[in-house]
Formats: sequence, C-alpha cells, structure tokens
Amino acid sequence: MTGLADLAGVGVDRRGGFARHGFSGVDLELRRWFAEEAERRGLDVETDRNGNTWAWWGPPGESAVVTGSHLDSVPGGGAFDGPLGVVAALRAIDLLRGRGFTPGRPLAVVVFVEEEGGRFGSACLGSRLLTGALDADAARRLTDPGGVSLAEAVRTSGFDPARLGRDGGALRRIGVFVELHVEQGRGLVDLGAPVGVASSILAHGRWRFRFTGEGNHAGATMMGDRRDPMVAAAATVLAARRAAVDDTRATVGRLVPTPGGTNVIPSSVDLWLDARAHDTPRTRDLVATITEAACRAAADEGCAVGITEESYGDPVTFDVGLRDRLVDTLGGVPVLPTGAGHDAGVLAAHAPTAMLFVRNPTGVSHAPEEFAEEADCAEGARALADVLAELAQ
Ligand code: GLV
Ligand code: MN
Ligand code: MN
Repeated sequence: MTGLADLAGVGVDRRGGFARHGFSGVDLELRRWFAEEAERRGLDVETDRNGNTWAWWGPPGESAVVTGSHLDSVPGGGAFDGPLGVVAALRAIDLLRGRGFTPGRPLAVVVFVEEEGGRFGSACLGSRLLTGALDADAARRLTDPGGVSLAEAVRTSGFDPARLGRDGGALRRIGVFVELHVEQGRGLVDLGAPVGVASSILAHGRWRFRFTGEGNHAGATMMGDRRDPMVAAAATVLAARRAAVDDTRATVGRLVPTPGGTNVIPSSVDLWLDARAHDTPRTRDLVATITEAACRAAADEGCAVGITEESYGDPVTFDVGLRDRLVDTLGGVPVLPTGAGHDAGVLAAHAPTAMLFVRNPTGVSHAPEEFAEEADCAEGARALADVLAELAQ
C-alpha cells in the first residue's frame, strides 16, 4: 500500500526487518514523513505534550473521531505492525474525500510514540503517558540499552521532558478511537475473511529479573566453585516455558549478560519476562510461579535475584456497543480476540474504543515475515473509511 512502500527504507534493521524506536533519528524521519503526508492532505499537524502526533481534518475539538496507530517497531520488526494503521487512516481520509464526505465532528489521525517499548522497555509509552497510566517521573527515568534516559532522548528530539505526563486536554478530544492493525495470528485466514473486528486483549506485563553472581574465568574456575547467574537465568527461561499452560503465555525475548564475553562467567544477567493471560489473577499466578523458580535457581547457584515490574496492563474488552456497530457497518465481519497489546487497549479505559484487523497470511508478527496482501490492506482502508463515515457523520 502507498505509504508502506515509502517507509521501506526507513529504520532498516541490518539483521532483518526494521528497528524504529521512539525519540531516535529514525523516529524523527518517520515524523517528517507523517507530517508531510498529512500536510499534503491539508490536515493540521500538532504534537502533544508526550510526543504523540495528531493530524486534524477540520478544527481540533472535543469528542473527536480519532483513528491511527504507531510507526515504531520492535527490534527486527515487520513492516505492517503499526504503520498499516497509520497508512490506512490517511488512505481512509482520501477515500472519504473522494466520496464527497465532510465530517460532522472533528476527525484526527494520531501516531503514538514508542508503542512497542522497543527502546525504553515500557509498552505503549505515548498512550500510557497521555492517559496517566504511566507516571511521568518514572518515565523520565527510563533508560535505553545504551544508558540514555527518556528525558534526554525527548530533549534531543526537540521536545520538553518536563511536559511529559497526563494530558487531560488531549484526552478529552478523543470521543471515540478506532485503530486498524495487521492481525497478529491466523484467525482471519482460518475464517477466510480479509477484515475483522477485535473483541479483547489479554492482560500483559513485563518483568525484569537481575541475577547477580561472581564474574570469573571460564577456564580457571572449577565448576563447583562457580556462582554463575547465567545458570539461574537459564533455569528461569525453562521455568517460564513450563509454567505457561492453559492459554497463558510467557516469553523471554531478551537476556543480557554483563560483561558478556565467551570466556567470562558473567557477574550479572538481566532477563526480561513478557507474561500474558486472560485475566489479572492468572497473569499474577503465572509470574509468581516463574518468580519462585527464579529465586530457587538463584539460591541453588549462590546468586541473588532482584525482580522489577516494568509495565502491566489489565485485560481489555472493547466497548461492545461500538464493536457491534462496526460489525453492522461492515456487513457482518468476524469478531476475534488478540493476544497482542495496542494503544487502543490503553485508550479503552477512557473512551469507546475499537479495532479493525487485516488478514495476515503468514500469521507471523514482530518478525520480518509479517505480511498483508495489497488487496486486503485496501479492503481494510475501505472498511476504516466506512467506519469513520458512520462515526463522524
Ligand atoms: C505489542 O505488539 C505487544 O503485544 O507487545
Ligand atoms: Mn507490536
Ligand atoms: Mn502494533
């Protein structure tokens, strides 16, 4: 789809896919692209206190119909997760104009910053700052893998870190929010449908485990003399796999030994756990089981372990009335849940919120194999235009 092709060369990860992270040089490039696309359409572009970008069709105002998504990616991410929702939103405006439609309510496209938390570790950073779900002081102290604080990165990007935080004015403008997204699974493939509507999102959190042992020599240290934090971390990875049963999910996608040398027993290992389940008690139970195993493994190895919750979001059931209205508007498309997190999930606590999914033939996401056919993307944009016309009439 036009737009996605324009972005194909921006933030390429040399290991495959894309590395597009918030408040980076690549982010500034993506912001410029979005501002140009919006201005070319005569939309008024503004950035809110938290670095989220808004493009307004008509005068900004309260109770607006808002659509959009994010342009950042996970490390090595696919081309569609986020950008498809932004590109489809712009395309939907073109379609509505082509139909001679004029919105009866303010209408905006929003691009949320650092939805993936790929740089600062905190999921849905822009929307959680906006709503106040993430404390601004805690956010300013977040650091990236290179030790750069969020406050510093925000400043370097030309924004004021002192202004981060709950933005009641911006929040009041959201009368209803609809995010279009590539499906991160094969639900629509199995149903033979190009477009669907979301019902719910799993509860989801991230925890950092820091195992501390004794850095030492790989050849000169007898096996019985070691206090190796990597061994405790490895046991925790296996415990996470064993603990995630009955539709719960536990993933360790990032593990950093310090100092990180082939012939060095690490002095410490940081490991990040992503845990999800249908409700908060099951998510908490899952993390408690893994925590217990981590503490046992650390004690067995003569190591210490410290655990920090880096983010947590309750499960989300999208507004049922709005969901059904979208399904009707689209002539009875399927409704399906998702295990992935979204800014829409954060906003759902503040305004009626819905999501549209576009079929993903590979079912893969957060990897370069993520895909959607051109015709399905076009169908998604048409569906979004229909929905916006229904909501903004
Ligand atoms: C974001 O896509 C997530 O689910 O982590
Ligand atoms: Mn994602
Ligand atoms: Mn996404």
